[in-house]
Amino acid sequence: MNAVIQIMSADARQYVCGDNGWFAIGPLDEVFGARACRGIDLEGVKIGLFRVDDEIHALDDICTHGAALLSDGEFEGHEIECPLHAGLVDVRTGRALSAPISRDTRRHETKIEGDVLFVRMQA
Ligand code: FES
Repeated sequence: MNAVIQIMSADARQYVCGDNGWFAIGPLDEVFGARACRGIDLEGVKIGLFRVDDEIHALDDICTHGAALLSDGEFEGHEIECPLHAGLVDVRTGRALSAPISRDTRRHETKIEGDVLFVRMQA
């Protein structure tokens, strides 16, 4: 029997897609609070948001190695450690940095207008 792993997001908020595919996520302080990373759901796609200094990076949140949310992992500098098997990903590039992760993680565009964060998903 195959086990079905379901990943639930703690964030049930609905984000609306605006002009040219950009989603308004919200003011940076509200989005992150005291955290440096968090996960959101954009039309069923789990997205991890990571703050590195003044830059915000957005990646697919589901680890390319298995069923875990990267944004639930340990985040230090520009590296996120997957909470399931401890593989590392560079949030600036999506590059897989260590085993068992071997495939890079898809990146998404971000921009900040005023203090509002926008994300545009890549195909
Ligand atoms: S599920 Fe992420 S390293 Fe295995």
